[in-house]
Amino acid sequence: MNEKFRPNLHFSPRAGWMNDPNGMIRVDGVWHLFFQHDPHSTSHGPMHWGHATSTDLIHWAEQPVALYPSELGTCFSGSAVETADGEVKLFYTAHSRTPAGGDHQVQCLVHADRSVSRFEADAANPVVPNPGLAAFRDPKVIWHESSGRWIMLVTEGQSIGFYGSADLRSWTHLSSFGEGHGRHSPGPWECPDMMPLAAPDGEIHWLLIVGLNPGGYAAGSGTQYFIGRFDGTAFTNANPPETELWLDYGRDYYAAQTFFERGSTNAPIAVAWASNWLYARQTQTQAFRGVMSLPRELRLVDTPDGLRVAAHVPLAVQSVIGATDRPGTGRCDLMADLAVGEHLAITLFGEDRPHFIVQRSAERRGSIRTIRHPVSGMDRFDHDYTVDLPWPDGDVLDITLFIDRGLVELSAADGLVWITNLFYPEHPEAGLRADTRRPEPVHA
Ligand code: FRU
Repeated sequence: MNEKFRPNLHFSPRAGWMNDPNGMIRVDGVWHLFFQHDPHSTSHGPMHWGHATSTDLIHWAEQPVALYPSELGTCFSGSAVETADGEVKLFYTAHSRTPAGGDHQVQCLVHADRSVSRFEADAANPVVPNPGLAAFRDPKVIWHESSGRWIMLVTEGQSIGFYGSADLRSWTHLSSFGEGHGRHSPGPWECPDMMPLAAPDGEIHWLLIVGLNPGGYAAGSGTQYFIGRFDGTAFTNANPPETELWLDYGRDYYAAQTFFERGSTNAPIAVAWASNWLYARQTQTQAFRGVMSLPRELRLVDTPDGLRVAAHVPLAVQSVIGATDRPGTGRCDLMADLAVGEHLAITLFGEDRPHFIVQRSAERRGSIRTIRHPVSGMDRFDHDYTVDLPWPDGDVLDITLFIDRGLVELSAADGLVWITNLFYPEHPEAGLRADTRRPEPVHA
């Protein structure tokens, strides 16, 4: 078994395939992370829900498979909630094939016990039948305090559908959001999530998260977001419809979901699948395929471009990362102290060509160029593109890199910009180098 690219501080399944995080919930102090899983192959086969638990969001214990394919279909992505009575419920999409070979997707309810180790499908499944859509999946259920009801967000092709329910069993369609807003592509808007977030002035806004595949910021899968209002029935975008906002500008941050935690007023914590459907089935691991991102707390911040999301790895998680002595795993902080026109090149894994070039382009603007070289056997893995960002007051842009055996999560400008990228270097344990003002390399 070649474990060269097995991360130390990111969740990866013992064996088999993994994609999206599912059913994320904290119950009695335990974080539960379910995930799209095929325990029998390292490719995307019949989906089960794998399961892992943690008490610190960084050391995960893999649990027995939670959901198995049934006569209703295989188990696509979904979510988890805890009711006021302390009952834990899971929602997933059962995926099957029509006689003509098309997709058939319906939403199902599963009852879990309080230890979240026994699971029983509701007898009335599917609780939301298919309204005639090829892509109708990824139910995310949240509690909407002011209307006193449950809201389910679900993929409706190129939009997100909102349903309401008093009892989690009987659901009514309320509204749809998406047409003409943000980025669209031939692919569906999938894996939605939504939560209230306070702006720095204390006003509450709603953050809507949507996966788009293909058509992300860079080629392939990407996770966009919208800031607006939700009145218990419909979501209204506060930004001009053409505004495109991204939770992460890298190639490998998809299907982000936040944990449900009943009664919590803490910042929501998101985890994403650190991969991209373009090449997810070709990643260079053997016993397993798929890793999750680090957990990130989401906040709203004021920027020169308006209200935006900034994300931070929780402090307790950062201290575990800081204390690790495992080779190839750690954190690096850089201060890019640049005059206009200067740049800083960051070269990873002891290689000879840079992977990130930070540039200050104007008094208050800068950019990060992200470069990845081809890996044999992986389609459209290489890239070279640029992410623009507001430059903080003064000359210094803060940059943090979390590196874990080839998985690199770079954040800049106090969590405003994230770039998450997988690498498969010859020496995943080798260190990084940062060179200021080095001339930009020319690639063949
Ligand atoms: C997103 C996704 C979901 C779907 C799942 C299937 O990555 O396509 O929309 O439920 O993966 O594994």
